[in-house]
Amino acid sequence: MSDWTSESWKSKPVRHQPEYPDAKALAEATEELASFPPLVTSWEIEVLKQQLGEAATGHRFLLQGGDCAESFAECTSSVIINKLKILLQMSLVLVHGTHRRVIRVGRFAGQYAKPRSDPMETRDGVSMPSYYGDIVNRPAFESKGRMPDPWRMLRGYERSALTLNFIRSLIDGGFADLHHPEYWELNFVEHSPKAAEFHAIVESIGESLRFMETLSGISVADISRVDFYTSHEGLLLPYEAALTREVPRRKGWYNLSTHFPWIGMRTAGLDDAHVEFFRGIRNPIAIKMGPSLKPRDMQPFLNKLIDTLHPDDEPGRLTFIHRYGAERVAEYLPALIEGAKATGRTVLFVCDPMHGNTRKTEAGIKTRRFDDILMELEQAIEIHQACGSNLGGVHFELTGENVTECTGGARGLTDDDLKDGYRSLVDPRLNYEQALEMAMLIARRLSAKPSSD
Ligand code: PEP
Ligand code: CO
Repeated sequence: MSDWTSESWKSKPVRHQPEYPDAKALAEATEELASFPPLVTSWEIEVLKQQLGEAATGHRFLLQGGDCAESFAECTSSVIINKLKILLQMSLVLVHGTHRRVIRVGRFAGQYAKPRSDPMETRDGVSMPSYYGDIVNRPAFESKGRMPDPWRMLRGYERSALTLNFIRSLIDGGFADLHHPEYWELNFVEHSPKAAEFHAIVESIGESLRFMETLSGISVADISRVDFYTSHEGLLLPYEAALTREVPRRKGWYNLSTHFPWIGMRTAGLDDAHVEFFRGIRNPIAIKMGPSLKPRDMQPFLNKLIDTLHPDDEPGRLTFIHRYGAERVAEYLPALIEGAKATGRTVLFVCDPMHGNTRKTEAGIKTRRFDDILMELEQAIEIHQACGSNLGGVHFELTGENVTECTGGARGLTDDDLKDGYRSLVDPRLNYEQALEMAMLIARRLSAKPSSD
C-alpha cells in the first residue's frame, strides 16, 4: 500500500464529480472539514466489519435501507425517527424469518451525493449544472442554486452529525429495546393491511424473549439494545478524503465519514479514482454490480477488482450489492457468483432490487413496481441457493413516511396514485407499508432454507 495516499485518487480519471467554479473555496472548505472531529470511529467500523464477515458465511443477515438521496430539509426529528422505526420493524421480521442476527445499516447520515449521467440539464433551451445532491447544489432549476458550492460539504457534514447524534441518543436511551417494540410503532401501522401479521410476529418474539429470560433468570441484555450503522455512496471524493484519517493504535487509514461506504455502479471502473480511493481505506466497502458489466467480461474484471480491493481476504471487507433487475438477474447473477468464487476470496452478496427495476409511467414519472422488486429478490435467493452460495442481505430505498412513489403492494397503489404523495428528489422509495410487507414476504422465502451450516 506504499503508493497509496488519501490524495492518490486525484491522479486517476474521476467520474461523476461536480465542477466547482472556485478552486480556492474548494481548498478552504475541505481544509476546514479535515480539521473537524470524525463522524464515526474506527472501533465501530471494525465491529461492523466483523459482523459483515459473519453475514458472508451465512451467520448474520444485512438489512441496508434508506433514501435514495437524503435532503437537508428533511433532517427533522420525525423523518429520522420514522426511518429508524421502519428499519427496526423490518429487522424484527427478518430475525423471525431467517433465524439469523440482523445487522442494521441505514442509507443515512451522509447519503447526500448523487451521480448524474449528464453533467448539464437542459429545459426549454436553458442549460445549467445537473443536481448532484444537496451536498453539492440545490435541486430547483435555477442558475444560482445549481452552481456547485463547496461550502455545502460543511452543511452536509453538520446534517450527518445531527442525524447521527439523534440516532445514537435514541438507541442509548432504550428506544430500540426489543422488549418494547411498541416504541417503534408508526402511527399509521394500525391502518395497514399487514398490521395483524406484524403484531403476531412481535408477540411471538416477545414470548420467546420472556421464555428465555424465565428459563435463564437473566434478562437478555445483548438483544435489548440493537446497533445501527451508517452507509452512503462514497461518491464525492473531496468530502470523503477530508474525513479519511489515520487513528492511534491501528494501522492504516479509515474513512470516518461513515461506517460502510459503497462505490456506485457508474464509478466502479478498475482504473478510475473511486477504486483507487477505496483501495486504501480500512472500512468494510461495497460495490454496486449492475448490467453494465456483461457476464462474458465478468471474470477478468472480478480478478483485478478483488486483487485490488480485497487482496487479503479479510472477513467482512468486501460486499457486492447486485442490482440487475427482475428481467436480467437470472442471466447475470450466476456469472457474478461463480466469478467471485473462482478468485478464492469470500465476499458478502447483497441484493438491491430497486435500481434494476426503475421505469417511467406514461405521465413520465419515475417509479418501480412492488412485484418486480419482489421477483428480483425471490430469484436472487434461488440463484444463490442453486450456486451453493448465500444471499447475505438486502438493500432497499425506503422511507418511514406515507409516500406514494412505488406502485403495488397490499394496498394496490397504481400509476395514478403516484401524484398524491411523491416526494423523492431522485429515485422512488418503498413507503412504510410496502417496506414492511416486503420484509414479511422475503423473510418467508429466506426461512425456507436454514443458514449454510
Ligand atoms: C443508488 O444507490 O442510489 C444508485 C445510484 O445506485 P447504482 O449505483 O446501483 O445505480
Ligand atoms: Co437510487
